[in-house]
Amino acid sequence: MTHSNSYALGFTTLDHEIENVSLTVTGALPDWLSGSLIRTGPARFEVGKQAYIHWFDGLAMLHAFAFDSGSVNYSNRFIRSRSWCEAEEKGRIARGEFMTDPCRTIFGRVAALFAPKLTDNANVNIGVLGERIVALTETPMPIRFDPQTLETQGHLTLGEAVRGQLSTAHPHSDGTRSYSYVIEMGRKSIYRLFVDENGQQRVLAELPADQPSYMHSFGMSERYLILTEFPLLVNPLRLALSGRPFITNYRWQPERGTIFTVVDKTSGTVVARAAAAPCFAFHHVNAFEEKDAVHVDFLAYPDAGVIDRLRLDRLRAGGPSSAVSTLTRFSIPLGGADSGLQAVEGEILCDTPFELPRIDYPRHAGRRHSHVWGVGQSDAATFLDMIVKVELAGATPLVRRWHQDHCYAGEPVFVAGPGGNAEDDGILLSVVLDARAQTSFLLVLDAATLAERARAAVPHHIPFGFHGNHFPDPASRPR
Ligand SMILES: [Fe+2]
Repeated sequence: MTHSNSYALGFTTLDHEIENVSLTVTGALPDWLSGSLIRTGPARFEVGKQAYIHWFDGLAMLHAFAFDSGSVNYSNRFIRSRSWCEAEEKGRIARGEFMTDPCRTIFGRVAALFAPKLTDNANVNIGVLGERIVALTETPMPIRFDPQTLETQGHLTLGEAVRGQLSTAHPHSDGTRSYSYVIEMGRKSIYRLFVDENGQQRVLAELPADQPSYMHSFGMSERYLILTEFPLLVNPLRLALSGRPFITNYRWQPERGTIFTVVDKTSGTVVARAAAAPCFAFHHVNAFEEKDAVHVDFLAYPDAGVIDRLRLDRLRAGGPSSAVSTLTRFSIPLGGADSGLQAVEGEILCDTPFELPRIDYPRHAGRRHSHVWGVGQSDAATFLDMIVKVELAGATPLVRRWHQDHCYAGEPVFVAGPGGNAEDDGILLSVVLDARAQTSFLLVLDAATLAERARAAVPHHIPFGFHGNHFPDPASRPR
């Protein structure tokens, strides 16, 4: 396969699985760093003679970096999801993904309407739901796996009340409870927000939706959940009957604007609704309450065009990906539930666009944050090739950058240092593709200065992934 740019390697299949290989470290890993960084992402882009269309479609592989006293071991393993197993068995793409759908017969389409064969290709995120570490995609079929061996253990079954065909791969947690939502598509569609406590789910709120929005994440403050409906909307009947790939059924309807719904985390009551100009986002950064308003930060694109720019043919051909967006804050007044939709405007917090945002989540989720890390792009014509840090505390934001020629960085996961009080006292863990060496490495940066502390060489390339998390002690999680 020939490609016209060096980073196209990050969109090629990795079939090789290895277990617990000790990596050569340059520099020094912090001696306090223990536990594992576990990430997921697409790693196989073809099945038999068929190829996936979009970056979000590829079959999921787990990657784990286990730290111990200054050393690091690496393992990788495909998730044996139903999508993966059926593809192996049949030698063709068996389940519809984000922008790829195998040809279905009319009968198949009708059958799919009543018992849809949803994808469980958990290539988006690693999170905690039902007190388990799970791999997630945008259907309510989280995959359980052994965090040591990465062996797939089946699905996490959600309670009967949490019905729906779609969900988010970005649940929230306040340390004791997890929050997420499902979308039930039907003649009357419903956004169903739920809380998970001790592995038991309880529906918090059911919000009707005429045409459900494509939402990749949502917001959480100390007291509220914030659902942000971008005007990329679907007619559920079209989704069921068109036979077209999932996301191509959604239509950009800017006249609908962007709608915020603020829901009380305890009672499930809608406490405020607001409308803003049309925009699109994948990732909420954080939300917090201050001065009778809830402030919601996300990375805002002017429209949903980025989805098409992330098609594999475009990315491999080196087309402008512009896969970054602008940190924007929307402040929704509280106490105005009776007045219906309140008009709000976004405030751009920082001119440097970025993506895959991270904060010091354990200490700042739902509370005001002043540091955000992410990946940036040095040029619109290239791909994500920088790590950026945005400091919001001063009058103007301060942006720091890490960049190295031929290197393409993934999501920087923040890990707080021991006893560190400052918000940026810790390290960042990022998987970086070195396009010249044709391999990847784990990069460890000082989270405050972005100075390199260490890197650990992986013996193969790791296809570009999306998200992961650091688990201080994955073994102690209840099985
Ligand atoms: Fe995401």
